[in-house]
Amino acid sequence: MSVHAQWSTRLAFMLAAIGSAVGLGNVWKFPYITGENGGGAFVLVYLLCIALIGIPVMIAEVMLGRRAQRSPISTMQVLAKEQGASGFWQIVGWSGVFAGFLILSFYSVIAGWAMAYVIESASGTFNAISGDGSGDVFGGLIGDPQRLMIWHTLFMIMTVAVVARGIRAGIEKLVVILMPLLLVMLLILVAYAFNSGEFGRGLAYLFSFDFSKLSTDSIIVAMGHAFFTLSLGMGAIMVYGSYMQKNTSIGSSVLMIAIADTVVALLAGLAIFPLVFANGLEPGAGPGLVFVTLPTAFGAMPGGQFFGTVFFVLLVIAAWSSAISLVEPAVAWLSERDIMSRAKASWMIGLFSWILGIGTVLSFNLWSGDEYKVMGKTFFDLKDYLASNIMLPLGGLLIALFVGWAAKASMSKDELNLSSGTFNLFWLAIRFVAPLGVAIIFLNAVGLL
Ligand code: PFF
Repeated sequence: MSVHAQWSTRLAFMLAAIGSAVGLGNVWKFPYITGENGGGAFVLVYLLCIALIGIPVMIAEVMLGRRAQRSPISTMQVLAKEQGASGFWQIVGWSGVFAGFLILSFYSVIAGWAMAYVIESASGTFNAISGDGSGDVFGGLIGDPQRLMIWHTLFMIMTVAVVARGIRAGIEKLVVILMPLLLVMLLILVAYAFNSGEFGRGLAYLFSFDFSKLSTDSIIVAMGHAFFTLSLGMGAIMVYGSYMQKNTSIGSSVLMIAIADTVVALLAGLAIFPLVFANGLEPGAGPGLVFVTLPTAFGAMPGGQFFGTVFFVLLVIAAWSSAISLVEPAVAWLSERDIMSRAKASWMIGLFSWILGIGTVLSFNLWSGDEYKVMGKTFFDLKDYLASNIMLPLGGLLIALFVGWAAKASMSKDELNLSSGTFNLFWLAIRFVAPLGVAIIFLNAVGLL
C-alpha cells in the first residue's frame, strides 16, 4: 500500500474541507430549491438538519478517516475489523463512490454553465439587460447541447487534472486565496441587493416560517441538501479527514466548516431573492434561478461587467474545489490498493462520470419533454434526487449507526478528545438524534409515519 498523504497544516485541511462544502450547492442549488419549496419553513428545516444531523455526522466522518488513514472503503473495512463489527459496513464506502459518480455527472454540467457565463459576462452580454433578456440568454445556453458538452468536457478535464496530481500540489494554495474572495464578492452582491432589490421581501421570504407551504417532499429535500451542501454521506469528508494530522481538534474544525458553509448559502439567498422580487421573477423558477437573476443585477451595476465576470470565475472555482472531492474517494481506493496509478484512476473515474453527464446535458434540451420524464423528473432531476436526497442521507445514517452503535465509545473518545460534557452531547447526537432524524424523515416520505 502506498504511503498515505497529509495536508501541510490544519488550515490546509480546513480550507480544503470548506472548498469541498462551499460550491454550487450554496450559490446555485440552495436558492433555487428554497424557491421551489416555498421559502422560510424550508430554510428552517434545512438549518435544523445542519445542526442536528449534519454536524454530528461530519464529526463522525472526519474522525473515521483520520483514525484509519485510508480511503473510505478501506477505512470502513479496517475499522469494522478493529471494532469487532461486521464487514457489511464497507457498503458505506462503496455507495459513496457511486454517489460521487452520480453527483459529478451533473455537477460538471452546471459548473459548465458558470464557465459559459464567465465568457458572457466578460463580453458584455449582460450590460443593461432586462429580466426577460437574461432569461433568453440562459435559455439559449441550456437549449444548445453542443455548447453544454464543450463546457462539461472542459470542467471534467480541469477536475481530473487536479485530482491526478495528488492532494497537496495546487489545490491547497488555490483555496487559500479564492474562498475569501468568493465571500467578498457575495457581500458586494448582498449590498447591491440591499440597495436595489426588494430586500425586505427577500428577507421575509427566507426567514418567515410558513409551515403550510412545507410538504413531506420538501422535508426530504431539505435534509438531502444539508448532506449535499456539507459534502456528507459519501466519504468525501472522510477521505479529507484521512489526510489530517493526528493532533488537530476535529470538533472545532467541523464547527467552523459548517458555519462557513451555512453563512455562504444564506448570503447567496440574501443576494438573490431581493432581486427575484424586484425583477418580477418567479422564486420557483428552478435550476436557472441564479443564472437569470444575478446577471440582471450585474447588468445594472456600475462596473458590473467586471464584477459579473469575477463572480462567475469564483463560482467556477467554488465548483472546482468541490468537484475534486467527489472523485477523491474512488481514486484514493484505486491508488492505495495499487490497482492503478492515481493519474490513471482519476482519468478513468472522470471518463465514467463524463459519459453519465451526457444525460444531464440532454435533460435540458432534447430530453426535456414529458415523454422522457420518469415520475415527472428529468434524467438530471432523477440523478440529483437519488444521490442527494436518498444516497447521501442513507450513507450518513449508516455512518452514525457505525460510530454510535457498532463501534465502541472508546474509539470516539480517543479520537475526539473532548471534555466530558461536549462528548456526551456528541454521543447523544450520533447515537440518537442523527439516526432518528434521518429515519423519521425517510419513513415520513414513504408514507409510513
Ligand atoms: N458540497 C458541495 C456543494 O455544496 O456544492 C457538493 C458536494 C461535494 C457534495 C462533494 C458531495 C460531495 F462529496
